Amino acid sequence: MHKFIKEGGILIMRKFLVFVLSLALAISLALTMGCKKAEEKAGEMKETATEKAGELKEQVAEKAGEVKEQAAEKASNLKEQAAEKAGELKGKAAGWDKCKGCHTDAGKPAPSKADLLKKFKTAKELIAAAKASKNPMMNNFKKDDLLKPAAEDLGLK
Ligand code: HEC
Repeated sequence: MHKFIKEGGILIMRKFLVFVLSLALAISLALTMGCKKAEEKAGEMKETATEKAGELKEQVAEKAGEVKEQAAEKASNLKEQAAEKAGELKGKAAGWDKCKGCHTDAGKPAPSKADLLKKFKTAKELIAAAKASKNPMMNNFKKDDLLKPAAEDLGLK
């Protein structure tokens, strides 16, 4: 009787052990499979991320190129405008305009345009006289690049 119970107990224990072992096996199997799946998923995600990053990089480069182009265009436009303005200013500043502050139509403090034209018949004469002037007010105006355009403005040759 005792022996029978003992044997029965061992049998149950064995069955239980087998059950636990197979359970453990099943769990580990499920885990490995889950890991594989996760790994695969991670790989996929990584790929898409790289792809996305590459696309973004391309787009950014494109945009940067566009912006650079626009900036260069704008800069050259500005440069052109500045050169134009400078040319205008130079044209304005040079010539008789530089002289008429003193050589007013009233003839004060320096002889008027009409008076100068009466006295000097050529640009050469006018320039020579301007350079020969003893008046200190003429000191800054004895340069060819100022006198020549002025004489031209007066119509002298
Ligand atoms: C800051 C004032 C001033 C400016 C600007 C000026 N002048 Fe005169 N200029 C004089 C004075 C003052 C005299 C002497 C006038 C005199 O001797 O009766 C003079 C004399 C001259 C003379 C000699 C006139 C003569 O009868 O011998 C010439 C030519 C002349 N200027 C030309 C020019 C020209 C061209 C410019 C512009 C590039 C110029 N001046 C700018 C004040 C000026």
